[in-house]
Amino acid sequence: MTEETRSIKKKIKKVLDKDRYQHTLGVAYTAASLAMRYGVDLERAFLAGLLHDCAKNIPNDDKFQLCRKYKVKLNDVEKKAPYLIHAKLGATLAEKLYGVKDDEIVNAIKYHTTGRPGMTLLEKIIFTADYIEPGRSNAQNLNEIRQLSFIDLDAAVTKILYDTLQYLETKDQLIDPMTQMTYDYYAGIRIK
Ligand SMILES: [Fe+2]
Ligand SMILES: [Fe+2]
Repeated sequence: MTEETRSIKKKIKKVLDKDRYQHTLGVAYTAASLAMRYGVDLERAFLAGLLHDCAKNIPNDDKFQLCRKYKVKLNDVEKKAPYLIHAKLGATLAEKLYGVKDDEIVNAIKYHTTGRPGMTLLEKIIFTADYIEPGRSNAQNLNEIRQLSFIDLDAAVTKILYDTLQYLETKDQLIDPMTQMTYDYYAGIRIK
């Protein structure tokens, strides 16, 4: 672990509650394992994992205020479902507060909940690690997706998106249009 990562880890522990910090460590180590499997730089995967939920425990009012301050543009779904904001805002805070200059890490944080069409390997790793880290237990097909993640990452990403859309539909929850776009993209790749 570099000095930078070590110091960010300390800061993250202070801004997250206990459960969120445990989840964050789970994502960081899972991302590092996937990075080993797919030949991505470990340090960057670990750092992106550490930072992915850095804005999660900020109260909603403050989230909106910080978005105004840093000119983070929000879509209609994010305005109605503030829990979605933590991804975009977290990416901005990674740059402004934690000094991250690596665009791929910033984007991995930005798209960790919705994914996006044409994700880089690192983006797919964070998206997947967030879903499969050992502390997660409530998603459907989790064992299958965990195995699949280390066999075929695109297939795992597609399955996660499919299950997420299904889950949001049955719960009648708002769906960020980007989640649907990402699913269409990856499902399309798999059919071709
Ligand atoms: Fe998150
Ligand atoms: Fe997360």
